[in-house]
Amino acid sequence: MNQLRSADWYAGSDRNAYIHRAWMRRGLPEDALDGTRPQIAIANTASDLTPCNMHLTEVAESVKQGVWAAGGVPYNLPVVSLGETQVKPTAMLWRNMAAMAMEEMFRANPIDGLVLLGGCDKTIPALLMAAASVDIPAVVVPGGPMMTGHFRGEPLGCGTDVWRLSEEARAGTISRAQFLQSEQSMIRGKGHCNTMGTASTMAVVAEALGMTIPGFAGTPAADARLLSLSHDTGRLIVDMVAAGRRPSDIMTKDAFLNAIIAVAAVGGSTNSVVHLLAIAGRLGLDLTLEDFDAAGAGVPVMANLQPSGQYLMDDLYRAGGLLAVLSQVKDLFHPEPLTVTGRPFVDSLGEHPVYDDTVILPRDAPLMDDAGIAVLRGNLAPRGAIIKPSAATPELLQHVGPAVVFDSIEDMRARIDDPGLEVTADSVLVLRGCGPRGYPGMPEVGNMPLPRKLLEQGVRDMVRISDARMSGTAYGTVILQVAPEAAAGGPLAFIRTGDIVTVDVENRVLSFEVSDEEMQSRSQTPASEAAYAAPQRGWAKVYVDHVMQADTGADLDFLVGSSGDAVSRESH
Ligand code: FES
Ligand code: MG
Repeated sequence: MNQLRSADWYAGSDRNAYIHRAWMRRGLPEDALDGTRPQIAIANTASDLTPCNMHLTEVAESVKQGVWAAGGVPYNLPVVSLGETQVKPTAMLWRNMAAMAMEEMFRANPIDGLVLLGGCDKTIPALLMAAASVDIPAVVVPGGPMMTGHFRGEPLGCGTDVWRLSEEARAGTISRAQFLQSEQSMIRGKGHCNTMGTASTMAVVAEALGMTIPGFAGTPAADARLLSLSHDTGRLIVDMVAAGRRPSDIMTKDAFLNAIIAVAAVGGSTNSVVHLLAIAGRLGLDLTLEDFDAAGAGVPVMANLQPSGQYLMDDLYRAGGLLAVLSQVKDLFHPEPLTVTGRPFVDSLGEHPVYDDTVILPRDAPLMDDAGIAVLRGNLAPRGAIIKPSAATPELLQHVGPAVVFDSIEDMRARIDDPGLEVTADSVLVLRGCGPRGYPGMPEVGNMPLPRKLLEQGVRDMVRISDARMSGTAYGTVILQVAPEAAAGGPLAFIRTGDIVTVDVENRVLSFEVSDEEMQSRSQTPASEAAYAAPQRGWAKVYVDHVMQADTGADLDFLVGSSGDAVSRESH
C-alpha cells in the first residue's frame, strides 16, 4: 500500500501528530491511528428532516462493521442533508451548497476513503459532486426505495399519485375527503420514493457510473440485503484505498454515457440531466446535452415503472432487479468503464433472469422504443430544453398552438383557474422566472396544474414549457429547463400570450413565431423582470451571482473542475 493520506495527520512523533492522535483516541484500539490503517469516513445524509434518509444511521452501522472487518477504521460523518419535500424554496437551491460543504469537510479531515450514504433526490448528486471534486476513493450506498403503500386496495406511487389524485380532486372526480384519506397511505415506511423518480434514478445513475457494488441500486430500504450489501461496501472501501482507486478512475466520459443509457432503459427522471452534467463538470469532463440525446437514442424503456409506466420499485426488485433490465441491452454499454470493484461494469451484466415480464418488459416489446431524454432547440431555447417522451402524451409530441404566458409561479397560481382565462386544450402553457437564477434554484414546478375548466372537460394533459424542472415522479407533455432561462435574458423572457409555439420532438424543435424586428423591440422592454429573485445576502446571493444555466448542470461557475485532496498547511 502507498502511504496513506491520513498519515499526514497521524504518522510521526512531533507535536502535531500527537495532537491529531490524542484527541481522536477516546477508546479506539491502540493501532487505529498508527498510520497504517485506512481511515474511512461514512458521509451520512441521515436526518430527521430528510425523512427518506432517516434509516441511514442504521445502515451506517453495517458499513462500520464491514470497515472494521477489513482492517479500516470507520467514522460517522454527518453531512448537509436535503429533504426534497421539506426544504424551501427548493432543495435544488441547496444542492451546490451541500456539495461544497461536503467537499471541504472531506478534504479538511484525515480521511483515506469515503462511503457515501444517500437516498432522497439531491443527496446522491451532492455526494458524488463532492467526491469527484476531492477525488478520494469513494463508493455509494444507495439508501433504497420504500415498500409499496396501498389505498383502497390500489398501490400508491409516491409523488406520481399525489399529482394524479390532486388533479382528480380539482376535476371533482374524487372528493377532497378521499384525497386527504390517501395521505395516510402514501408513505409506507423507511426509504425514498418508490416510483422511478429522481431518487431511484440517481441510484441507477450511481450504479451505472460504477460507483456502487453492482446489483445494489433498487434494493429496498427495508430489505435485509441492503444491510449485508452495506457491510460488503464497508469492506470494499478498505480495498479501494489500498488499490488507490479514485472517483476519476471510475467516472470517465464513457461511464457517463453508460449512465445515460441506463437512465433511458428505466425511463428515469429528467433531473438526472442536470445532476450528471454537474458531476461531470466537477471532474473536468466535457459532457454536453448532445451526449444525452445521442447516447439515449435507440434505447428502449423496458422498466414498466411509474411515472412512465405502471409498477413500483419493489416490483422491479421482485421481477429481477435493475441488472435484469440493463442486461437486456448489454451490447449498448461501453465496455471499458470500471466499477468500484475494479472490474468492468459490463461484467456485471449477463445472466440475470426476469421473473415477471410485465414489470421488466422484453427488449423487443418495450414500454416505448427510443425514449431517452430528448433535447429540443430553436428560437425559444437556443441552448436547449429537455422532455421525457415516455412520460408524455404521444399525440402532443408534435404540436402547434398559441402560448398562454405566466411571468411567475404566483402569476400562474393567480390566473390558472380563472374561468375567464383564454385557454383551450390546444394552448401551450408557458411559465418563466423559474430557472436557476430567477426563482432562485430552479424548482420542480414545470408540471404546472391544468386550468380547472379544462380538467372539468376531461383534459388531462397539455403542452407545458418552462425554465423550471419537474419532479421525477411527475408526468405529462412537459418541456423543462429551457436555457437560457428568462432571468438570464433568454428568449423565453420575450414570448407573449398568443404567439404560436411549435413543438416537434421527433425533429427536436422548440420555437415560436416572431419576426427579427419584433424580437429586437421586445428585448428592449423585458416584461417580467420584477418577478426575478434579487437576494442581497447569504447563500442565495452567492448562488444567483455564480450559478450556471441548466444546460451546463446549474453548478456554481467557480466549482467546476477538481481541486484534489491536498491541504497545504497544518492547523497548529
Ligand atoms: Fe425523498 Fe422522493 S421525497 S425521494
Ligand atoms: Mg424531486
